[in-house]
Amino acid sequence: MKALLAVEDVRMLYPARPDAWGRPRAWLHAVDGVSLRVDAGEVVGLVGESGCGKSTLGRIVAGLEKPTRGVVRWDGLDVTGRAGTPGLQMVFQDSSGALDPRWTVAQIVAEPWLARGRRMSRAELRQEAAALLAEVGLDEGALDRFPHAFSGGQRQRIGIARALAARPRMLVCDEVVSALDVSVQALVVNLLARLRGERGLAMVFISHDLAVVEHLSQRIVVMYLGRLVEEGPSRDVCSRPLHPYTQALLAAVPEPGRPRSRAPVQGEAPSPLAPPTGCPFHPRCPLASARCRAEMPAWRESSPGRWVACHEAAADVSQRGP
Ligand SMILES: Nc1ncnc2c1ncn2[C@@H]1O[C@H](COP(=O)(O)OP(=O)(O)OP(=O)(O)O)[C@@H](O)[C@H]1O
Ligand SMILES: [Mg+2]
Repeated sequence: MKALLAVEDVRMLYPARPDAWGRPRAWLHAVDGVSLRVDAGEVVGLVGESGCGKSTLGRIVAGLEKPTRGVVRWDGLDVTGRAGTPGLQMVFQDSSGALDPRWTVAQIVAEPWLARGRRMSRAELRQEAAALLAEVGLDEGALDRFPHAFSGGQRQRIGIARALAARPRMLVCDEVVSALDVSVQALVVNLLARLRGERGLAMVFISHDLAVVEHLSQRIVVMYLGRLVEEGPSRDVCSRPLHPYTQALLAAVPEPGRPRSRAPVQGEAPSPLAPPTGCPFHPRCPLASARCRAEMPAWRESSPGRWVACHEAAADVSQRGP
């Protein structure tokens, strides 16, 4: 089956440490050799610590940045570096930045229609905008108010309504609940889960919080220092993590009944300007061997649908039993 979204061997280098003439003396590897596919209606969670390259990958997927190398395909077509792909909408962490404070909610939600030259009467516009607001749990009274009159969670709902106005097949959600209180986070995640079911929306759901990602995603992809380190169905990844980094991320998630076999990830992530030799996780890894310090682990399918980049992962699984 053709993927709705396919990211093929994408790399993003940013110039760093400019000299007196502004020429880069180093290159920061924000994303390095990432491939990913998302099928229609599928929600893929992208998780990893701050700075591992999640937002960069999200911007590349949405065409807001052109990668240094690699291809992004939408429905089979090469759309690398092209924003505005019909059917793909991005929702950001801080909706207040994305919502123009001088516009009413009706204007904000209708913007994708008007931008595409859709002709509609004022009554039609208000009716359709109100229907979208209802879908995200806001009432019609919101139409004539300005973004500042709403709470963070409500603004996030407005941002989602605006994205829905473009009739997307996929949302790229970048840390959309991170700035919200935990109770509000759950409401917005539940809204996204409902939209996934009702509209058959695919999503790339980006978060540093594995607990949030687990709740919404069918598949989880774990990123570390610009690279993928583990991928698999959500339930498998969370109940039987293969990579020591995923195990450490999970250990940080408080959950009754989940074995706490590992300590949360220790130490700071190395700089993407000077990644370690061998496996990029080895300086923080409890299983690191001489091989890990010298040799980058290959991205391999350890069992059908379960991918990992770790020299020691298989041994670790057998140690812990089925
Ligand atoms: N435009 C840019 N120019 C230079 N470096 C950048 C740029 N954008 C991102 N970076 C660097 O690339 C790396 C990855 O950044 P990115 O924002 O993608 O991480 P992230 O996983 O989204 O982090 P967070 O969880 O904090 O949002 C970081 O080291 C960051 O400093
Ligand atoms: Mg980010």
